Amino acid sequence: MKPEKITVLDGREWTRDPEAVHRILADLIAGGAALGWVDPPSRDEVAQLLDQVLSAAEAGDAALRVAYLGGRLVGLGYWRRYARPTHRPHADLEKLAVDAAAHGRGIGRALTAALVADARAAGIEVLTLDVRGDNTHALRLYRSLGFTEYGRLPDFVAVGERRYDKVFYMQDFRRSRAVPLSDQAGPATAAPA
Ligand SMILES: CC(C)(COP(=O)(O)OP(=O)(O)OC[C@H]1O[C@@H](n2cnc3c(N)ncnc32)[C@H](O)[C@@H]1OP(=O)(O)O)[C@@H](O)C(=O)NCCC(=O)NCCS
Repeated sequence: MKPEKITVLDGREWTRDPEAVHRILADLIAGGAALGWVDPPSRDEVAQLLDQVLSAAEAGDAALRVAYLGGRLVGLGYWRRYARPTHRPHADLEKLAVDAAAHGRGIGRALTAALVADARAAGIEVLTLDVRGDNTHALRLYRSLGFTEYGRLPDFVAVGERRYDKVFYMQDFRRSRAVPLSDQAGPATAAPA
């Protein structure tokens, strides 16, 4: 059967769908995903976050990407420029989330590749992110797209009584050349807008 087409849109050209984003995030958190929340966020919190990220994107200080599979919103990710004046050339990829029902089809890869390309295009010097140490799929995905580990806080992430490492990854665009999207491993169906 022919795989469904993945379409990745720039958040600024997207008809906002906070309900669908809330559903994806709340379901992932309820399933134990490592996205910074312990309990699923409220609808208002998600709508507010989208407003903040899209305002920052309009100002050139962020990029939001959303992914569709067929006609259904199945994922999103964003980075924001650091607010601290001495860190302004750099940005942090704060969230990447794909609907659990659509995992393993190349959507996370397509979103991350588009966000990396956006960061380069925006002149970001260093793109950072952090990952919970047990999130092996995410760690593998980021490494395959050129991120490298620059540090780790042992047993730092608290989820109830459990503790996990917080792993810091970065990509320094001053030192790495762009890999064309077509040369990156993964399904050829990704179509960043
Ligand atoms: C991490 C996440 C975004 C990956 O999204 P995805 O659409 O499933 O990922 P992809 O299908 O694009 O796979 C990308 C890479 O991830 C890794 N990966 C994904 N699923 C995997 C699996 N079942 N086993 C091993 N590696 C896997 C592989 O390296 C894969 O690349 P490959 O297929 O070329 O080997 C998704 O699992 C998710 O939303 N997780 C919950 C939220 C989260 O952890 N976000 C990241 C926070 S830092």
